[in-house]
Amino acid sequence: MIKLARSIIGNEEKRAVEAVLDRAFLGMGPEVQAFEKELEDYLGSDRRVLCVNTGTSALHLALQAIGLHAGDEVLVPSLTFVATFQAISATGANPVACDVDEKTWLLDLEDAERRLTAKTKAIVPVHYASEPGNVEKLYQFAKKHGLRVVEDAAHSFGCEYKGRRIGSFGDITCFSFDGIKNITSGEGGAVVTSDPQVIAAVADARLLGVCKDSEKRYRNERSWEFDVTEQGWRYHMSDIMAAIGRVQLRRFESEFRQKRMELASIYRKRLSHSPYLELIPTQGEGIVPFMVPVRIRNDRRDAARAALLQREIEVGIHYKPSHLLSKFGRASEKLPVAEAIYRELLSLPLHPGLSSGDVEEVCQILLGILSSP
Ligand SMILES: Cc1ncc(COP(=O)(O)O)c(C=O)c1O
Repeated sequence: MIKLARSIIGNEEKRAVEAVLDRAFLGMGPEVQAFEKELEDYLGSDRRVLCVNTGTSALHLALQAIGLHAGDEVLVPSLTFVATFQAISATGANPVACDVDEKTWLLDLEDAERRLTAKTKAIVPVHYASEPGNVEKLYQFAKKHGLRVVEDAAHSFGCEYKGRRIGSFGDITCFSFDGIKNITSGEGGAVVTSDPQVIAAVADARLLGVCKDSEKRYRNERSWEFDVTEQGWRYHMSDIMAAIGRVQLRRFESEFRQKRMELASIYRKRLSHSPYLELIPTQGEGIVPFMVPVRIRNDRRDAARAALLQREIEVGIHYKPSHLLSKFGRASEKLPVAEAIYRELLSLPLHPGLSSGDVEEVCQILLGILSSP
């Protein structure tokens, strides 16, 4: 079976976890602090990194920290994993589903502009398939309309925009380190920002709102005489997770980045001339693809999907647009570009455990299926 995605864990990660298992406390401690520091060094500038247990919690805490309330509205592209929408609605705010741009598959700012109201407080762009799109335009839009920006960078750890790492600039960036992302900590996520208020709010809120508990946890201590002033959650990262993440961060630079880029470039070379499919447009340089979504033309998506599965090649559909989900849609709402992409969408296998021969084989089989009568 050629897997669509998988965790790549080796002896180094296993040894790192074993070392933590020998300690007296397995929860959030010095290993999390060390992982945060290494991520901060990796991203550079004046950014603080706060690790949490999932990318969804990272988004939830970031959105809570900017002070969203019930009834506020947040602009978000519909073509995303439902995690983005759930994180917004968890704050009490309403996610306002926006269409995506035909040329980029990313948030369509013109459509977003039409959906602005007096209640709009923030925008959550999604770096779908690792592509950040035109980040400058996005921040100009946010500035013009007085919106906070929480970047859903679940797919784009280690990617660059015009030579700057995603997360090293901007308002707030959230990463996911779940099992199949560019790096994993088993499950996990991080909030990245240089806003001191957001840093303080997220640091407390991840530990049930216990004031200034993070500093104690880093030293394997805890608070006994504490106060709580805000709603908090049990969202912190554990030392076991951080131990995996620290090894993965090193391996990302020495192995994963290059491997993902090489495999994705084979897909581009072999598939980009086919009249039957379209690859997601890429910014190119600096993108470390997390996945390879394509559009399959001529109503042949389902046939291609079935034929690939029959040849033991696992494929996916990332994603059913969130405005089509009962919780988040309005019956009358139409987002034509997101819906058209969804009808044709297929994600092809991509992970650092694949060989170039595996990817060549997927391409050959797919092209064969699509060109058969
Ligand atoms: C676009 C997007 N946002 C958010 C998330 C949430 O991340 P996590 O699974 O770590 O909660 C994901 C996870 O797959 C995602 O793909």
